[in-house]
Amino acid sequence: MTELAVALARLHARAFADPWPEDAFAQLLAQPTTRVHAAPHGFILTRLTVDEAEILTLAVDPERRRAGIGRGLIDEAAAALAAEGATRLFLEVAVDNVAARALYAATGFAEAGVRRGYYARPGGAIDALVLSRELKLP
Ligand SMILES: CC(C)(COP(=O)(O)OP(=O)(O)OC[C@H]1O[C@@H](n2cnc3c(N)ncnc32)[C@H](O)[C@@H]1OP(=O)(O)O)[C@@H](O)C(=O)NCCC(=O)NCCS
Repeated sequence: MTELAVALARLHARAFADPWPEDAFAQLLAQPTTRVHAAPHGFILTRLTVDEAEILTLAVDPERRRAGIGRGLIDEAAAALAAEGATRLFLEVAVDNVAARALYAATGFAEAGVRRGYYARPGGAIDALVLSRELKLP
């Protein structure tokens, strides 16, 4: 287990009700298509496949939110992925995730589809929105 995988898992567990285990991060970090951008109190993991990229997860420490960290991580990842040749960035977000939906709207994402019953919730499964935005070199 790398120190990075442990650190990401720890922060992820602070940010999400259903955190991913350390070995999930170790496996993702071992894949050549995975990119990680980390800030002191947040990180974003993306996957690059030729000219398309997707956000695998994005987490900001609950005590450090609304300070621009999430937006900064998206901007940084988008610029780096565009520099590697990606032209579109995708993600899935739960319909009830108000903060993330607002952040993605503020960073240029638009709805590209819906995955019905994608996320488990105590009261029953809820939909995921598939969002995407264009990536451009500056
Ligand atoms: C979603 C998340 C990453 C946002 O991180 P953040 O660092 O707080 O976001 P930022 O400070 O960069 O916010 C940028 C803009 O997004 C919008 N936004 C972010 N959080 C918001 C909230 N709770 N309510 C309304 N708008 C919000 C605002 O427009 C905000 O700009 P403003 O603060 O100037 O109004 C963070 O809330 C988080 O880690 N949530 C739990 C994990 C998660 O849901 N990840 C995404 C999974 S798809």
